[in-house]
Amino acid sequence: MAFKVGLLGLGTVGTGTAEILLSPEGRHPLLQELEIYKIGVRSLDKGRTLQIDKNVFTTDLESIVTDPAVDIVVEVIGGLEPARTLILKAIAGGKHVVTANKAVIARYGDEIFTAANEKGVYVLLEAAVGGGIPVIQPLKQSLGANRIQSVTGIVNGTTNYILTRMATEGADFADVLADAQKLGYAEADPTADVDGFDAADKIAILASLAFNGRIKLEQIYREGIRQISAADIAYAERLDFVIKLLAIAKREVTTSANSQPSTQDNLQLRVHPTLVPKTHPLANINGVYNAILIEGEPLGQVMFYGRGAGAGPTASAVVADIMNIAAVLKTETETLPHPLISCSHQHYCTIAPMEEVVSRFYARFLTRDQPGVIGKLGTSFGNHGVSLESIVQTGMRDHLAEIVVVTHDVREGNFRQALEEIRTLDAVDSIPSILRVL
Ligand code: HSE
Repeated sequence: MAFKVGLLGLGTVGTGTAEILLSPEGRHPLLQELEIYKIGVRSLDKGRTLQIDKNVFTTDLESIVTDPAVDIVVEVIGGLEPARTLILKAIAGGKHVVTANKAVIARYGDEIFTAANEKGVYVLLEAAVGGGIPVIQPLKQSLGANRIQSVTGIVNGTTNYILTRMATEGADFADVLADAQKLGYAEADPTADVDGFDAADKIAILASLAFNGRIKLEQIYREGIRQISAADIAYAERLDFVIKLLAIAKREVTTSANSQPSTQDNLQLRVHPTLVPKTHPLANINGVYNAILIEGEPLGQVMFYGRGAGAGPTASAVVADIMNIAAVLKTETETLPHPLISCSHQHYCTIAPMEEVVSRFYARFLTRDQPGVIGKLGTSFGNHGVSLESIVQTGMRDHLAEIVVVTHDVREGNFRQALEEIRTLDAVDSIPSILRVL
């Protein structure tokens, strides 16, 4: 028995997916039971290079999601609409769905999974985070025995490519971005990547799986990398750090009266450029590569590393999901959803406000070069309970003294109050950079 796949979209990922499905030799035998039944394209000129009957192509995508013969709909058109509507129509028609669409899942996961559970169908999304890196299914299955404590990822290849080049070339953000756009590594409109929206979508999905609850995207704190300067990268290097755009989901551990871990813990959810110690496993993830470091009890640390985008890697994840569904369809004996591949979240996670989050900070100050300035900075930090790990003054910039401070762990609210006080000091000209430290 062959399972009929309706493929929506024949861009980079769609073409990669079709190529794998059309060339099953040497791969898992289940692939031979998957048939590309229809391919929805914007123009019938597409797909000419695929070795497939031209009758499978249609520009009527809705006819695919409503076709009773289709078992599995694969949505790889991207964007919010019509992707969301097509996914919902496929579910309404009793079809299983595989999608690579992090934007739709991060915004409409509640609606989509509720509909899927009601219909008894699966929506799988391995390709939505980390491209070819298996991380969704491991979170659902292989790591299921753990209490997850944190998920920390470099989940955006474009920004990692830009930051890596800034570090190796000593270049400024704008110059590297322009070159990355010329080379095709960054989009003409780079907003989704460089302002952290793409990473926020991805950490919303990972956090939901790691912490077993739904996530409201707008509650994720988000900062991009536009403000990172060559000066900060150079200081970070001197202090033994590298700067990475991290997406972080972390359980704030509280214990109940009987010393059992609480099930209602607050989550920290944030995307921001971060100084990462050079000895940290994420410090050496360079270029377009992605990595996701998960910490759980009792496992400890586990890191997933690989190519986070591109036709082959992303299609690898899409086809794995199609096979998962086909495997369940072949063996299913009851109508209950498979508990390890369906999504059964009912509640929203509680997200901690940023002022409560505790981390180390890096701050760069430009001050007048006069006696006692470092003492005044230290006093203001001390007034708000901020303890300093290091303070360095290495030179002058624009006739002003440049002072860089790294703090010990501090509640963000206290650190911000100290900065407010410091901004009022006559000797302080400006605070060009404030970054968090892992
Ligand atoms: N734009 C993403 C990135 C790839 O740069 O990593 C697709 O998720």
